[in-house]
Amino acid sequence: MSEQYIESAVTDPETAEHLAHIGSVRSRLEKEGRVGELAPKYYIQTFGCQQNEADSERLAGLCAAMGYVKTADPEEAELILVNTCAVREHAEKRALSIIGSYKHIKDKNPAVVIGVGGCMVTQKARADKLRGSYPYVSFTFDTGAVDRVPALLDNALQGGKRTFVLSDEWKIAEGIPIRRESKHMAWLSIMYGCNNFCSYCIVPYVRGRERSRSAEAILEEARALIDDGAKDITLLGQNVNSYDGGPYDDRRVDIAELMHRICALDGDFRLRFMTSHPKDASDRLIEAMAAEEKVVKHFHLPVQSGSDRILKAMNRKYTAEAYLEKIAKIRAAVPDVSLTSDIIVGFPGETEEDFEATLAIMKAARYDMVFSFIYSPRAGTPAAAMENQIPREVSSERMERLLALGAKIADERNERFVGRRIRVLAEDVSKTDASMLTGRGDPVRPVHFAADPSLIGQFADVEITAARTYCLEGKLV
Ligand code: 5AD
Ligand code: SF4
Repeated sequence: MSEQYIESAVTDPETAEHLAHIGSVRSRLEKEGRVGELAPKYYIQTFGCQQNEADSERLAGLCAAMGYVKTADPEEAELILVNTCAVREHAEKRALSIIGSYKHIKDKNPAVVIGVGGCMVTQKARADKLRGSYPYVSFTFDTGAVDRVPALLDNALQGGKRTFVLSDEWKIAEGIPIRRESKHMAWLSIMYGCNNFCSYCIVPYVRGRERSRSAEAILEEARALIDDGAKDITLLGQNVNSYDGGPYDDRRVDIAELMHRICALDGDFRLRFMTSHPKDASDRLIEAMAAEEKVVKHFHLPVQSGSDRILKAMNRKYTAEAYLEKIAKIRAAVPDVSLTSDIIVGFPGETEEDFEATLAIMKAARYDMVFSFIYSPRAGTPAAAMENQIPREVSSERMERLLALGAKIADERNERFVGRRIRVLAEDVSKTDASMLTGRGDPVRPVHFAADPSLIGQFADVEITAARTYCLEGKLV
């Protein structure tokens, strides 16, 4: 897969200071002759959501700028970065176990530098655990400190003290180079942080308060991405509806205006966005989706639960009825829209009746896809201290019922595409059949179709011949 390199202007003096270490690391490597074939390698392991994937592309951009070369094998890396997630316990356990497995690499070659960033180590207890029990980790950096990685590495390479960065101030660091994983699909962060404090969620604690990038910086990045061959751009934010134009522009630029401005850029591309909080998904956003041809007709609108009692305990600030009204509005404006959702099963106090209300809202909303999660208590969040935590067996049994219903509805929704022509961005050769390509349909489902690999990275019109549970099959027209 090709990698792209996007650069932008540094706007913050502190970030400029941190990024100056790129030059120090690079010139040291050059002096040692560690360039070209002899350049040291970096390996990045990413957990969690798209926001983290986008951050990892910044980490990769920094590594490349410092003179490191990417490897897919941690055993041959001299710099290992782990970008962690904290949203559920499972993600933290996996990260800790992977970090543990890197010990032998450091034992074999003490020159290897291991750094850990992301949401897990933005919690003090976790950063402390790495400091105490993982002595081969040279540094940790919180979600707001990606720009500090060159300085942290520079320090580690010079035999400096181990460093554990936990700033309680989250800024926007513009100007970090980005090395993208895909040439055709791109993440574009438009805002960071979250102010919602849903009672189960760790995100506001590990990603700080909401702050928007300037519309100008976003448009510049979008332009660069499109010029660089990006055909499918996803605007990212924990709650994109709160986008407010950022600190530099006039604050009248909301998410709808931002989407209009991006769509007005020349080029053959399409635009997505995630995630929207149902309480904030505005009429203007819905209208923008309806009006702009380039905007993919897909709304990810996490409901979390169908029970008003549970929604209240979750601090979601809407009722099941208000949620369904919002969906009715979206469907009225965008009749063929694909709807997806996140749902939590086994929130503290969830009764059989509450759970049945969740199944009922799934039936009413008719989701194209549901991402479902068993509730995982997160230390420091209000829900973790609630009484009536649900036993695992009960949650698991409910989860099975939810998955079965979700798949049944997805199947039914999927059928509507059979016989239609849809526009697919050819992404890759199919993993199971080398004569087939897989692509991203408009709106959400992967589409498999027979075509020549030279089509990869381009749009193709595909006639859908069959619907499978979470994918479609078709033929090129
Ligand atoms: N337990 C289980 N799922 C969670 N999510 C967020 N926090 C938790 C938690 N503590 C889910 C929500 C959110 C998605 C990204 O992860 O459904 O929308
Ligand atoms: Fe993403 Fe949330 Fe996980 Fe952080 S904790 S990586 S914001 S899902």
